[in-house]
Amino acid sequence: DVIDWEIDSARKGGFDHYMQKEIYEEPDVFYRTFNSEIDPDFISELKSAEEICVIACGTSYNAGLLFRYLMEMHCDTPVRVEVASECRFFRPRRGSVVIAVTQSGETADTIAALNMAKAFGCTTAAVTNVVGSSVTRVVDYSLCTRAGPEISVAATKSYTAQVAVFMSVLRELCNGSIKEDLDEIHKVIEDALLVDVSEGAEMCAGASDIFYVGRGLYYPVSLEGALKIKEITYIHAEGYAAGELKHGPISLLCEETPIVAVCTMDVSYPVMLSNIKEMKARGAPVIAVGTEGDEDLDDVADVCIYVKKSTPLGEMLAVIVVLQMLAYQSAVILGRDIDKPRNLAKSVTVI
Ligand code: G6P
Repeated sequence: DVIDWEIDSARKGGFDHYMQKEIYEEPDVFYRTFNSEIDPDFISELKSAEEICVIACGTSYNAGLLFRYLMEMHCDTPVRVEVASECRFFRPRRGSVVIAVTQSGETADTIAALNMAKAFGCTTAAVTNVVGSSVTRVVDYSLCTRAGPEISVAATKSYTAQVAVFMSVLRELCNGSIKEDLDEIHKVIEDALLVDVSEGAEMCAGASDIFYVGRGLYYPVSLEGALKIKEITYIHAEGYAAGELKHGPISLLCEETPIVAVCTMDVSYPVMLSNIKEMKARGAPVIAVGTEGDEDLDDVADVCIYVKKSTPLGEMLAVIVVLQMLAYQSAVILGRDIDKPRNLAKSVTVI
């Protein structure tokens, strides 16, 4: 599998930062990745698998968690998601297909976990952005994210591309599970780039701690939103399943702890709305990310950020982009070194 990259795709163009440029590439990245074929032999392996085990680190782990939720909605095969560095404490089940998710294809923890899975006789696959990377030499199947080179240390377009790969796996695996119109999704992600997140970013940039909450698919999306903002702003941020907040972290809520609550008009809407009210009652300012046209959200949240109404997955992709922009703009306000945050590396080749 050969992917041609134009040299321009590795230049900053007219953008202030690579991260911003890479977020703007997401409509096209999603389009071409979702449009690519998945090896039918790999799909057959998944169909006969007793279990699918996803292993990854960082943002790639969050993409794996999202896959688990998607699978749970449409397929019977159980999916486990493990942080790669913890894999040595778990034994892969016989008959599992192990999927490593790694943008760089070089993450040492992920490759070590894959080698262990191979030693147990598991079928292995990698979702990676780098053709010819170390991981592709270890696995039975390679699934390419067609994000192009990602220069910014914080992963943005590669994450969206990983989500696109998982959505296309689902499309092949469970006939009829994904009925998205690709042009419509392209438009939805493009519209998300134009959403004004400045008021939310001001609020985040002034905070020392932020909670990101959501339910269902928006739980892993919240984890990724929190990871993004902490990576590039150095603000402490945590992603939580919205229902779990009351089991501990609620004791931390006060006027100084903004909450980013994802509350689109999906199945979780009514309970999310009441969660937001509970957070408000503890004094926490709420930045709600919701669906355009939802006036009730205006009444309960301090700041509302709206994505265009679309299919549930279309809105989810828009929310992903909006949360990346929120992190980006907060880091701009704070004057951070956005493309090269302190202490982080693009690929981590030590265990
Ligand atoms: C590093 C990066 C993260 C990334 C993680 C996994 O820690 O700073 O942004 O998510 O590695 O990288 P991978 O290349 O395996 O996806």
